[in-house]
Amino acid sequence: MSRNILVVGAGQMGRGIAQTCIQQGFKVVLLDVAQSMVDLAKQTIVSQWEKGIEKGKWTSEQKSQWEKNLTLTTHWDSFDTHSINFSIEAIKEDKKLKLELFQTLDNKLPQNAILSSNTSSIPITELAASTKRPDKVIGMHFMNPVPVMKLVEIIPGLTTSSETLSVVQSLAQELGKTWVVSKDFPGFIVNRILMPMINEAIYVLHEGIATPKDIDEGMKLGTNVPMGPLELADFIGLDTCLSIMEVLFEGLGDSKYRPCPLLRQYVMANRLGRKSKRGFYDY
Ligand SMILES: NC(=O)c1ccc[n+]([C@@H]2O[C@H](COP(=O)([O-])OP(=O)(O)OC[C@H]3O[C@@H](n4cnc5c(N)ncnc54)[C@H](O)[C@@H]3O)[C@@H](O)[C@H]2O)c1
Repeated sequence: MSRNILVVGAGQMGRGIAQTCIQQGFKVVLLDVAQSMVDLAKQTIVSQWEKGIEKGKWTSEQKSQWEKNLTLTTHWDSFDTHSINFSIEAIKEDKKLKLELFQTLDNKLPQNAILSSNTSSIPITELAASTKRPDKVIGMHFMNPVPVMKLVEIIPGLTTSSETLSVVQSLAQELGKTWVVSKDFPGFIVNRILMPMINEAIYVLHEGIATPKDIDEGMKLGTNVPMGPLELADFIGLDTCLSIMEVLFEGLGDSKYRPCPLLRQYVMANRLGRKSKRGFYDY
């Protein structure tokens, strides 16, 4: 595999994925539709490297090499698409947008390029079917924050080849991650279990049973997890949580996955959590 990776979407996940790939010696093009997100991504990644240098984790030579290996852009024509043979899509969790993007990736990238998606819940099989290379489309679901979290869920769709699966397993390992493989069903492993728990915590708040602080404190101390469910929802992004619940509800057809009305209302009010500086808590 060549060392050139295209990451599409420079939000919190895309920038973490780009940073991680670069630190492992890859060259990365990080593409977004919004210049403001590209600027924010650059600032965030560089400040992570500066903090690492201060702590003695990395050298300034490493940082300047890494900066050379990172191209941030909003234009497809600003880099050589022929040099890319692996892409990781990390745009907004919206099926229509992702299907459109997969068609664009299919048209623009070389025939042998693998097209992976960091989607939390959208069917890989459907993304694959929108391309002319369904054997080369696969889910590569990183956890947030990507440079810190060890896990990658790998999701072969119905049509993904075993060769594509093994390339992605090797890449995940090279990125210093531990992988697990999930079949392509709504929510895969982690979100199938995590999101209904977060949604239930929002119901507990919605029904006036407890305050956000007590819900989080209860779950942290009672189940020995580092973050409470509402704090974690704010960290993930409430829009992303809502999209995942909708996919679970629609895809599994069971009322136990209905998104809590309070979650919908927060998203309507643009209270999206940390990224909008207000969610269940203020930031
Ligand atoms: N937030 C999490 O904790 C988390 C964890 C694992 C996976 N994910 C998944 O990762 C993906 C991204 O999530 P995020 O939290 O980084 O979202 P985000 O809202 O922080 O970023 C999304 C980015 O996509 C960009 N974008 C939208 N349409 C685009 C297009 N057509 N082309 C290029 N860029 C486009 C937006 O400008 C934005 O910068 C989603 O599929 C989400 O489900 C999120």
